[in-house]
Amino acid sequence: MISRIINVFILVIFISITGCTQKVQESPIDLNHEQYRTWHSFLGDKEGSQYSSLTQINRENVHQLEVAWAFSTGDLIDGVRTEIQVNPLIIDGILYGTSPLKKAFALKADTGELIWKFDPFEGEEPRSRGVNRGFATWSDGDGHRRLFYVAGHRLYALDAETGLPVEEFGDQGSIDFSIGLDRDALDIRVTATSPGVVYEDKLIHGSRVYNLAPGHIRAFNVRTGEIEWIFRTIPYPGDYGYETWPPDAWTRVGNTNSWPGMSLDAERGIVYAPVASPGHDFYGGDRLGENLFGSSLVALNAATGERVWHYQFVRHDIWDYDPPAAPNLITIRRNGRWVDAVSQTTKTGFVYVFDRETGEPLFPMTEEEVPPSDLRGEKAWPSQPVPLKPLPFARRQFSEDDISTVTPGAYDALLQRFREIHTDSPWDPPSTQGTLIFPGFDGGAEWGGAAFDPETGILYVNSNEMPWILEMVETDAMAAGMPRAEQIYAINCAICHGSNRTGAQHGANPSLVDIGERLSTDELYEVIHDGRGVMPSFSFLSKNELDGIIKFLQDPDAPEVTPIEITMSRAPQVPYSNTGYNRWFDPEGYPAIKPPWGTLNAIDLNTGEHVWNIPLGEFRELSERGIPQTGTENYGGPVVTAGGLVFIGATADEKFRVFDKATGELLWETQLPAGGYATPAVYEVDGRQYVVIAAGGGKVGTKSGDTYVAFTLSGE
Ligand code: HEC
Repeated sequence: MISRIINVFILVIFISITGCTQKVQESPIDLNHEQYRTWHSFLGDKEGSQYSSLTQINRENVHQLEVAWAFSTGDLIDGVRTEIQVNPLIIDGILYGTSPLKKAFALKADTGELIWKFDPFEGEEPRSRGVNRGFATWSDGDGHRRLFYVAGHRLYALDAETGLPVEEFGDQGSIDFSIGLDRDALDIRVTATSPGVVYEDKLIHGSRVYNLAPGHIRAFNVRTGEIEWIFRTIPYPGDYGYETWPPDAWTRVGNTNSWPGMSLDAERGIVYAPVASPGHDFYGGDRLGENLFGSSLVALNAATGERVWHYQFVRHDIWDYDPPAAPNLITIRRNGRWVDAVSQTTKTGFVYVFDRETGEPLFPMTEEEVPPSDLRGEKAWPSQPVPLKPLPFARRQFSEDDISTVTPGAYDALLQRFREIHTDSPWDPPSTQGTLIFPGFDGGAEWGGAAFDPETGILYVNSNEMPWILEMVETDAMAAGMPRAEQIYAINCAICHGSNRTGAQHGANPSLVDIGERLSTDELYEVIHDGRGVMPSFSFLSKNELDGIIKFLQDPDAPEVTPIEITMSRAPQVPYSNTGYNRWFDPEGYPAIKPPWGTLNAIDLNTGEHVWNIPLGEFRELSERGIPQTGTENYGGPVVTAGGLVFIGATADEKFRVFDKATGELLWETQLPAGGYATPAVYEVDGRQYVVIAAGGGKVGTKSGDTYVAFTLSGE
């Protein structure tokens, strides 16, 4: 008997060891399914797999890759930073993408030849319009296909054949994207970066919100645009989770939106929506409690919008630790059986794995203690749940020993700063002394998502290891003794443009120093009143306040001319603001921590074991000095294929790379015309395999670009 048990035990170990090479037929997954052969959906399929079963491009021939075509969208504007974060769709030989200025277009996917283009901002001044990550699509079964995306504050339905808005949908082909949010529509600004997901005749959509607008998840009818159901991410009286907030939170707290895209289990009729942190991001004294469904994964009945289960990653989030990407719907082996699961990567460097039906974690969990907050009125939640397995794919702790020595002579200053700020726990709450945010506001994992290989159960995730410093400032103290216009600036604008107006580092938010020499009063009024790109609108400020702030920007040292009544109707009413999102660099502009600064990781989700971890990206000048490859900050995700490859751009060296998925060995790389800060797509036309990536640049201090580049094997 005992020997039989031992034998079974050995067999189990044997199976788990040989897991990676286990025969395909033993898996319940059909790798030849159309889902995996095509790129019909955002991230490849509605399950968020970022996987292709195509094998024509493989380990043996990948070195023969060459440019098949490059398509320039023609959308670069001089002096304006733009990006292309799109993961394009390829359907029946046609590629659908968007340009840096959010124009939609269709190309022949084998030649890059333009078929149509649609400009939602036709007739308006060209300017940055924020980012788009892709389309949702639906076909009526009679060969009429629609593409859905949000541009500005409207949701469009385009005819995939012509690129024209579908008249039947909403108001001549689009709807006001703020409908159904049932709060005073006046101040609500809502858009979306990521596409929705279609279930039967419903387009289920998240949003990106400003000014504390509600983050309800909505389903729209794909034919008419009418609302089918709404899931309130901040519960109303009587809703599940209502008691995790102050009683009136649903009337005034906002954000808690689902912005990175969702994944759909069409068979079970369940949609999995990652939900972001509530506003204000770093002060929760006005929203004490656990704050469901902030920073959670929520499984909803796709037909009705009812909650099936949820899991909260960060209770009472005061760090802006949103789940950054659409989750992966996966099938893995646990305890000798196949389990349909869902995995979510986080900015904190973890991958959480749940049973898809029950939401039970499939690996053991632990609770980590959170130090108390010393901000007035704040109560940090005492503990947070993290998995014991898989181990995090990014460092989470930064000790004195980790201070970078990359730049000679920089160490002492970095050490001094290190000793001033809070660094003890990865859960140190925001503080006025400064709190280290690591592996970073942008991850750990970020919006490019993770690629899951259904053949092996291995998840591929790229990660940042960038220290940021968050410094809270008392708004009263800040405001006391300041001219009023400057107060308005400090409360509303400093978070992005810096308290000294020099902008966030690396150009993510522009400097406003001497802005009066670059923009006229009217132009200043327009950008502040209407918002621009990722900058929200400040239309809620009174005319007096806007005039005052413009005068302040034009001449910060001038004594205040107009006495300004500050009403602050919807402006932050909390006692703290902060000095913005600031990366912590050494004087040469390298991260203050020892490398690696960017990595690519392969994690076996059957066992929870890491398979390999490598630095991703290179600073040429450091390699030339003999410093081992450091990796760079990286944005945009990987794709894994049955050809044995992982494709990824994402790095600040503007390269596109191919790795051996089994070993992490670099097999091929090429220089892109601009940073490939987007997730590639893999597809086939007339028996030939391609991989395409948008090279839109514009992040981490690199130039903007406007090109899509497709690669295929050389002709012979
Ligand atoms: C959430 C971050 C954020 C906040 C808050 C914010 N801005 Fe901006 N702002 C930006 C970004 C990003 C841009 C660049 C937009 C673009 O061109 O795509 C910008 C652009 C601008 C510009 C144009 C700069 C140029 O060189 O053309 C002005 C002026 C400006 N902001 C003023 C303000 C003022 C005044 C406030 C407060 C009332 C404010 N911003 C609040 C992020 C922000």
